[in-house]
Amino acid sequence: MRRHRIAVLKGDFIGPEVVDATTSVLEALAPRAGLAFEWDPLPFGGGALDAHGTPLPEATKAGAAAADAVLMGSAGGPVGDHPWNRVPRPLRVESGILDLRRHLGVYANLRPVAVFPGLEHLSPLKESVARGTDLLIVRELTGGIYFGKPSSSGPDRGVSTDVYERFEVERIARTAFEAARLRRGRVTSVDKANVLDVSQFWRDVVVGVHQAEFPDVALDHLYVDNAAMQLVKAPTSFDVVVTSNLFGDILSDLAAVLPGSLGVLPSASLGGAVGLYEPVHGSAPDIAGQGLANPTGTLLSAAMMLRFALAAPAAADALEAAVKGALADDPTRDLGGTRGTAAFTAAVIERLPARLDGVEAPAGASA
Ligand code: NAD
Ligand code: IPM
Ligand code: MN
Repeated sequence: MRRHRIAVLKGDFIGPEVVDATTSVLEALAPRAGLAFEWDPLPFGGGALDAHGTPLPEATKAGAAAADAVLMGSAGGPVGDHPWNRVPRPLRVESGILDLRRHLGVYANLRPVAVFPGLEHLSPLKESVARGTDLLIVRELTGGIYFGKPSSSGPDRGVSTDVYERFEVERIARTAFEAARLRRGRVTSVDKANVLDVSQFWRDVVVGVHQAEFPDVALDHLYVDNAAMQLVKAPTSFDVVVTSNLFGDILSDLAAVLPGSLGVLPSASLGGAVGLYEPVHGSAPDIAGQGLANPTGTLLSAAMMLRFALAAPAAADALEAAVKGALADDPTRDLGGTRGTAAFTAAVIERLPARLDGVEAPAGASA
């Protein structure tokens, strides 16, 4: 039996709903896979701001850094006027999310986007366009305009600075090229080099890493505006997309249209000692408390956690297969189905195999 300590940061609104669904599935999976989980729930987000005066308490930073992996829901308040949006920038819930990513050093945010075979009908795009979509957005996560200085907002002037250091672009480029070697061998780097100096720098560094270390991988470049169009017009033309923090944020929500809902996209944030696993979506205050949240993105993030952090690929496969089966059967309402969170979660658990083919090998876990 392999025991794993998982830091659990539920967050706000639907965050706890999708995380509770996911831990219940993992609890059902654990004995069948020879795994045992020790959950360490830690305060995070708007709830932590109210209770502790900060969205990311010190105890949460320490607990996350000491865990085998961090499983996160989503945090933040309603988009309009709300007390959480009126606090100084460093205390904003979103600053807590950014601080956590920096604290863990997880510079590489992997956001896979797939239209699973047989689930093309869930896409609002023509089935012929959506069919076969299987791409990976590699989003730089701890740099760029999210963190650049100077940054300020005053009565007459607002400033944010997009800045990338050479080492930051080199390491995310390597992540993308290495991922492509395990996939279909193609990387598309997305930038705005026709206008922005920081993007021209990004492109030059990506080209340098490609020529020096990955000549076997195919590399092309798209400007971000055209990339946005191509993603929905010809999604199967992409394998790995590597891009900056801000462009990756925007393009991944856009790409959620391909499988049919933002609620299905997972992510893994890697590069530090401990990985962070969270869905791409936010806290969805508009549907919170109604039992409607789609837990798929969090479940598939947990599958990435099993694969990357806990060296449990058979459990990851079983979980992904159960989720796909439940989606094919009857998904949640965001995908046009009839199930709520609880019924969908029960359907996933029902589809877990009674026992995996041999328990996971007792290999050492890694981030
Ligand atoms: P959102 O992702 O919360 O919601 C966008 C739309 O998608 C909404 O209509 C919502 O109902 C729907 N949706 C999202 N997840 C869903 C799911 N699992 N099942 C079904 N429908 C789902 O984006 P927003 O409204 O722009 O942001 C709300 C809050 O979340 C903000 O405070 C924002 O800052 C925060 N946010 C947090 C994270 C995070 O914690 N990593 C990510 C994105 C946004
Ligand atoms: C995401 C979110 C976050 C981001 C926000 C809430 C800080 O949109 O994870 O995609 O912009 O990175
Ligand atoms: Mn986002």
